[in-house]
Amino acid sequence: MGEKIYILEEMQKVFGRDQRSLANTKVFVTREIPKEGLDLLRGKVDLEIWEEDRIIPHDVLLKRVKGVDALLSLLTDKIDAPVMDATGPQLKIISNYAVGYDNVDVKAATERKIMVTNTPGVLTEAVAEHTFALLMAIARRIAESDKFTREGMYKGWGPMLLLGCELQEKILGIVGLGRIGTRVAEMAARGMGMRVIYYDIKQDEKFEKQFGAKFCKDLPDLLKGADFVSLHVPLLPATRHLIGEKELKLMKKTAYLINTSRGPVVDEQALVSALKKGWIKGAAIDVYEKEPELAPGLVKLENVVLTPHTASATIEARGAMAHLAAQAILDVFAGKTPENLVNP
Ligand code: GLV
Ligand code: GLV
Repeated sequence: MGEKIYILEEMQKVFGRDQRSLANTKVFVTREIPKEGLDLLRGKVDLEIWEEDRIIPHDVLLKRVKGVDALLSLLTDKIDAPVMDATGPQLKIISNYAVGYDNVDVKAATERKIMVTNTPGVLTEAVAEHTFALLMAIARRIAESDKFTREGMYKGWGPMLLLGCELQEKILGIVGLGRIGTRVAEMAARGMGMRVIYYDIKQDEKFEKQFGAKFCKDLPDLLKGADFVSLHVPLLPATRHLIGEKELKLMKKTAYLINTSRGPVVDEQALVSALKKGWIKGAAIDVYEKEPELAPGLVKLENVVLTPHTASATIEARGAMAHLAAQAILDVFAGKTPENLVNP
């Protein structure tokens, strides 16, 4: 509560700035993002973009942020207290180009009166669609079938060839009923005739009525009941390794795990064991515990579909995320509260 007042006071100070100084406002973008964002900033602020098309090394970041007023960061950048201190006391906003902001030390930012923003909403559709693409790919063995066909193993139609499972009447367990989890549930219930159960810190009766969904009071209930488990929680201390050996063993042997949230929500080594030993049938995952490294043994498995953290990678979502992230910076220097402030 006290922290919130700090942030607002700080905003009033920014509001009092001479508007002509916007041109002197230094904005550092840690890697090129779609032009919908950069065009908004170009010509208005003193814009600098890291030149290389790869993740900026932390030591380079520490040097390049010196003296900047606003930082537009990516989920691959660790924005910790040393970065904030290297930047200097004039830093007003960290605009994170992602919905997840576990890469930013929000507490350290709040202590330094720095606003932190994210880009929710505009990527809900992209991530929900990707979740569904993964779900269908693992259920119908699409990646495995593609490899089989390409490698010349298709010798003619067969009654038992690559059998998968249908979705209708199957139970989808949503873990984390935010925007994305809700949209995935809607696609499942309305589009595929699946039954939905969910686990969240709070019950949502309106959602239950709308989609005939059932609330699970605890995670084990959901894990025991679902044919597909889809994760949509943010990465927090409480969600790190939410799914480990114990949880994987509670799932049905015929069930699938889908993860488009954050890698460390799943104990990846335990998942490899689960897939090898048949505790579950398969998994489709977009995020990894130690990205871009994969747990040993993961790529050797047939019963897994892997994508490289591309759930929000649509032209539409990435353009809109860039716009939102840039607009948050302009809003702050125009004395407005940015739309997606995440400081407590
Ligand atoms: C993507 O993973 C995001 O958090 O935006
Ligand atoms: C993220 O946008 C979520 O609420 O799921």
